[in-house]
Amino acid sequence: MPCSIVHLQSMISQNTIQQILSRIDVVEIVGSYVKLKKRGANYLGLCPFHNEKTPSFTVSPAKEIYKCFGCGKSGNSIGFLMDLEKYSYVEALRWLANKYNVEIEETETSPEQKIQQQAADSLYIINSFAQKFFSDYLLNTEEGKDIGLSYLKERGFTEETVKKFQIGFNPEARDAFASAAMNAQYNLELLQKSGLVTVRDERPTDNYRGRIIFPIHNQSGKVLGFGARILKTNDRAPKYINTPENEIYVKSKILYGSYFARQAIDKADECLLVEGYTDVVSLHQAGIENVVASGGTSLTPDQLRLVKKYTDNLTIIYDGDSAGIKAALRGMDLAFEAGLNVKLVLIPDNEDPDSYVNKVGAAAFREFIAANKKDFILFQLSVSLKDAGADSSKKSALVNQVAETISKINKAEDFTRQQDYIQQCAELLRIEEGGLHTLVNKFIRERINKEENKQSREEADAAFNQSQQPGDAADDNNLLLFNKDELQERAMVRCLLEFGLKQWNEEQTVAQHIFTEAEANNFDELIDNKKLLELMKFFKASYDEGLEPTAKTFLYNENLELSTLVVNLMDDQHEISPNWKEVFEGKINTREDLYKEEVFSCLNYLKLRKIKRLMDENQRDLEKHHTSEEQMVLLQVHQHLKKAEIELTQQLGTVIFR
Ligand code: CTP
Ligand code: MN
Repeated sequence: MPCSIVHLQSMISQNTIQQILSRIDVVEIVGSYVKLKKRGANYLGLCPFHNEKTPSFTVSPAKEIYKCFGCGKSGNSIGFLMDLEKYSYVEALRWLANKYNVEIEETETSPEQKIQQQAADSLYIINSFAQKFFSDYLLNTEEGKDIGLSYLKERGFTEETVKKFQIGFNPEARDAFASAAMNAQYNLELLQKSGLVTVRDERPTDNYRGRIIFPIHNQSGKVLGFGARILKTNDRAPKYINTPENEIYVKSKILYGSYFARQAIDKADECLLVEGYTDVVSLHQAGIENVVASGGTSLTPDQLRLVKKYTDNLTIIYDGDSAGIKAALRGMDLAFEAGLNVKLVLIPDNEDPDSYVNKVGAAAFREFIAANKKDFILFQLSVSLKDAGADSSKKSALVNQVAETISKINKAEDFTRQQDYIQQCAELLRIEEGGLHTLVNKFIRERINKEENKQSREEADAAFNQSQQPGDAADDNNLLLFNKDELQERAMVRCLLEFGLKQWNEEQTVAQHIFTEAEANNFDELIDNKKLLELMKFFKASYDEGLEPTAKTFLYNENLELSTLVVNLMDDQHEISPNWKEVFEGKINTREDLYKEEVFSCLNYLKLRKIKRLMDENQRDLEKHHTSEEQMVLLQVHQHLKKAEIELTQQLGTVIFR
C-alpha cells in the first residue's frame, strides 16, 4: 500500500482503519478537550498547546483540521491526539476505535512476527515478575533492608521514592532470583535473554547478585530492562550491569525516567537531561521531575525524537569534568537538525546532579540551573576557542565548523535565532559579522545544491534571499516565507489533492492530465521541492493502484511530516484573483468552478519556469567559446525555447492565477 496508512508494526487491519477514519469528527474529538464555540463555518476555542486569554484556536469541520493562529500548531484529529496525549499513531487509532466502538481487527502476522511478538510479551512478563521479586526483597527481607535499603537511605533516597521508581535488590546468594523464576515455570532461555540469569557450571545463576536494581520503564510504564548497581566498591566488577539488547530493550531508544517525566516535561516545556539513574531519582525527589537520563552515552537520533515529542527545549546537565563536557558535545548537531533548542549546565566541583542536589538542596539547585544555563552553540565555541589558542589554522577550521552548525538551524522556523547566533559567534571569534553571515549562507547553499542538484546555484541564491524576509512571528506558515516559485509548486500539488479525481476532459481525469504533463516534462524538473515531489509520487502510486486518493487520504498518513504538509497546503490562502470575477462579470465563481483554469495555470507556470531555466543554461553555454557550427545549434535551441516561451506566456495571459 503506497500511502502507508498501515504501519507494518501496527497490525490493525486496513478495514478497521477505514472504519475509524470514516467516523472521525474533528469537532467532537477536539471538543472533548477544548471548549469550542461556533463561529461561521468554523469553531473557535482557547488553544490547548499554549496559554492564551483570547481564543485563536480554530477548528474547521470542512477541512477536518485544527489550527492555532497564536502558536501556529495545526493538524488533523489524529495529529491532535498524538500532540496532546503524546500517543503514537497506533495508540491514537486505538483511542478512536474505542471512542467510536469500532472493533479492532488485527492483520495476519507472519510466523516470524508472531514468534518475535511472543518473545517480547514473555520478556515483559519476566521483567514484571523480576521487578516485583527485587522490590519485595529490598523492602521485606532482612538482607534487603540491612544491605540494600540502608544503602539507599544513606544516599538520601526516601522509601516513597524507592517505591515510586520500583527500585529493588538482588540478594548475594548464587541463584535467589533464578530459582524463584524457575519454580514459577519461566523459560530458561528467555530468562537468559532478559539478562537476569546466566548459566554457570550448568546451573542457572543470578546475573545481578548483590546489586541495587533500577527498573527501566517504557512510555506506558512497563519494565523494559534493568540497571544493576554494585554496592561494594570493587575494582574488578563493573559498577553497573545493564540489560543486554533484546526484543524489548533497545538501548538507543531508551531514556531512563521518561515514563515518570512526561507530564512534567510537557508542563515545563523543557526536558532536563542527566547522565545517570541516580541523578534522575534524586532530582525527582527534590521536586524536579522533568528529567531523563541517557545512561552515560551521547544521545542517539531516536532519543532526540523522543525528547522532541514532548518539547523543543533540551537542557543538558552534566558533570563539569572534561569527560562530561566531551560526552555532552558529541553528536549535538543532530539536536539542532531536529530543531531542538539546546542549553547546557555544568555541575561544578566534581559533583554530579545527584550529589549536588543533595549537597545544596532543591531550591539552590534550581537557582543554579537557571543562572548557569549556557547556550549550547556558544558554549561549544568557547570551549573549542580555548583549545585552539593562537593556532590560526585551528581557528579557521573552527569558524567553518561554527558556520556549518549555525546553517543547520531551520531558517524558516527560526530566522531571528540564526541571526543572533551569527552576531554572538562573530563576537566570540573576533571576526566580522558579515563574513560569518556569508559563510553560513555558503553552507546553506551547499546543502540546497546537494539536495536539489538540478537547481542552479543562482536560483538557490534567489530562493534563499526571498525566504530571508522574516514573516509575521506569530504565523510560521506565513506565505511570505515562500517565494513565488514555491507557491506555484504548492498550488500545483494542492490542485492534485483537491481536484485530482475530477474530469479534465473526456479521456482524462485531472490527476491523469497532471501526470501526463509532469512525465513529459520530467517530474523533478518541474517541481523543485523534494517534499512536494514525494507527495505527488505518493499520490501517483496510490492512484495507479486504483485507489481514489484525496487530501483526506494523506491527512491521516502516519508520516507526520507528510500529513502536516498536506494540512498546510490545504490551508494556503487561495482566493480567486479579482480579475477572474471581472472576466465572468459579476458571476461569483468558486475555485470549484475554476479548477480547470487553476490546473492549467499552475502547470503552465511551472513549464514556463523550466523553459526559462533551459534558456539561461543555453545562454551561459553560448557565452563560452564555440565553433560557428556549435553556435548555430545553440542559437537554434534558443529560438526553439523562445517560441515555446512565447506560446506559454500567451496562454498564461488569458488565465490569471496566483
Ligand atoms: N553506566 C553504565 N555502566 C557503567 C557505568 C555507568 O551503564 N559501568 C551508566 C549508568 O546508566 C549510570 C551512568 O552511566 O547511571 C552514569 O554513570 P556514573 O556517573 O558513574 O553513575 P551514577 O549514575 O552517578 O551512579 P552513582 O551515583 O551511584 O555513582
Ligand atoms: Mn552519581
